[in-house]
Amino acid sequence: MFWPLQENIIGNDDLELLVTFIRETKRFTQFTKVREFEAAYSEWMGCKHSVFVNSGSSANLLMIYAAAERYGWKPGDEVIVPALTWPTTVTPVMQAGFTPVFVDANLHDFAFDYDQLAAKITPRTRAIFLVHILGFPANVARIKQIIGDRDIVLLEDTCETQGGTIDGVKVGNFGLGSSFSFYWGHHMTTVEGGMICTNDEEFYKLNILKRSHGLARELPEKYQAAIRQQHADIDFQFLFLTDGFNFRNTEFNAVLGLSQLPKLNGFIEMRNRSYRRFLDFCRRYPDDLITLERPGMSSFVLPFVLKDGTKKQPFQALIRESGIESRPLISGNLLQQPFLKKYYVPGQFDVADMLHRNAFYIGNNQFVNDERLDVLEQLMTGFFGN
Ligand SMILES: Cc1ncc(COP(=O)(O)O)c(C=O)c1O
Repeated sequence: MFWPLQENIIGNDDLELLVTFIRETKRFTQFTKVREFEAAYSEWMGCKHSVFVNSGSSANLLMIYAAAERYGWKPGDEVIVPALTWPTTVTPVMQAGFTPVFVDANLHDFAFDYDQLAAKITPRTRAIFLVHILGFPANVARIKQIIGDRDIVLLEDTCETQGGTIDGVKVGNFGLGSSFSFYWGHHMTTVEGGMICTNDEEFYKLNILKRSHGLARELPEKYQAAIRQQHADIDFQFLFLTDGFNFRNTEFNAVLGLSQLPKLNGFIEMRNRSYRRFLDFCRRYPDDLITLERPGMSSFVLPFVLKDGTKKQPFQALIRESGIESRPLISGNLLQQPFLKKYYVPGQFDVADMLHRNAFYIGNNQFVNDERLDVLEQLMTGFFGN
């Protein structure tokens, strides 16, 4: 048996659509398929606007720049980020000239230590960059309560929890904007790709502009006439309203997105089914394993959190020998990574440190079937006992 961390979830049906599209079309750069995919995604998300970009990392970088312009953040303003996440939740904050303020994780939903989050808010806090980690919706109500009536923006990195819900509302709908990744291994894929979702019209327009050089012509037509009039002295085709990037994606990727999206709910159901069986196994060993279950989850991977860190290496080695790939829990405590060491304060990140030492995960997707799970169950019985 080989149970890899990531597997190709692009099917022959997706490929057929792509091949037909390539044969019949002459325009492959961002065009009508991208717009179609964005509209379909907004409908699936239950949000007003979606902006397709070339990765989840680009989505995060774009959101930070757009939020900063929307609200006039100043260099050195603070953005609260988790110690446990993928680096590109944090790096956009630094790249854009803001100060990341790190908050420890928790063992109920892996997101912030909410008390520490409350304590780390200062007069310079402009945003909280919440990450719904590994398929577990975070405690948004608690975060909103902590924010209260302060002018602090909530951004959601939803790259690992696409389709997760809180009281029936999809995560990614609770703040100014949210990001998604369609890199392979995620709930659905466009090979490379990402999305920004928002209900805020001004934020949407800024993301559209900044995705493509700051060009006015990128905006939907209904906004164009007034802008044309306002800047009559400049050729509208080459009118730049703000600074920007090139984070566009292609029509190929949008065709794949349009093909994958109708299958997404089914993919999530299959992932959650495997997660529930995995949870059943783990719960047999309460002295050895910490387990997480949240309502509305959208399982990303199968995480092992060992109470005794000395058992991690032998258990990981055992399952590796049986063909099951594994890796650290995201990237462990990010503050242990060389480029972020200067932010590390001993004693402030105990949960992230514990997860760094004691946790790892294996893959989950629609190919994780009972046969694989049976093997895992046997290995766990052999290792942790009956
Ligand atoms: C929480 C989180 N944010 C951002 C990203 C970046 O997404 P991408 O790989 O599409 O750049 C990832 C990637 O897996 C992620 O897990």
